[in-house]
Amino acid sequence: QQILVLHGPNLNLLGTREPEVYGRQTLGDINANLQQIAAQAGAVCSVFQSNHEGELVDRIQKAGGDKVDFIIINAAAYTHTSVALRDALAAVAIPFVEVHLSNVYKRESFRHHSYLSDTARAVVAGLGAFGYEAALRYALSS
Ligand code: DQA
Repeated sequence: QQILVLHGPNLNLLGTREPEVYGRQTLGDINANLQQIAAQAGAVCSVFQSNHEGELVDRIQKAGGDKVDFIIINAAAYTHTSVALRDALAAVAIPFVEVHLSNVYKRESFRHHSYLSDTARAVVAGLGAFGYEAALRYALSS
């Protein structure tokens, strides 16, 4: 089983970026935990972070060719702006779970709308880094 975890803009700063909102784990910590869980299950978990929308689109398109089975995506701010990411996910038709560290519904109203949610298998928001783990365990069991 091949699983791709995508992280959008500013998530490279996790650990120091608004830790009261996003937690103290670094992106490296989160990715290492996911890769360990996947390996234990005999799956391959690739991770990719970019601050650039087009690079995320390119990576999703590549996942289509690579026969990735499942995508876990925290598109960060692009969640609320990007028709391009929505269209890329639809184009490859790979099932995905949308993850947010914070509970976006407790926050500013511009974070309440997502261009991804209605085409996602599920949405996890507000569980911190555990949200990625929950999504991964779901993917591994599906
Ligand atoms: C986020 C929530 C987004 O609104 C924000 O732009 C982010 C991170 C989260 O994980 O809680 O960068 O996706």
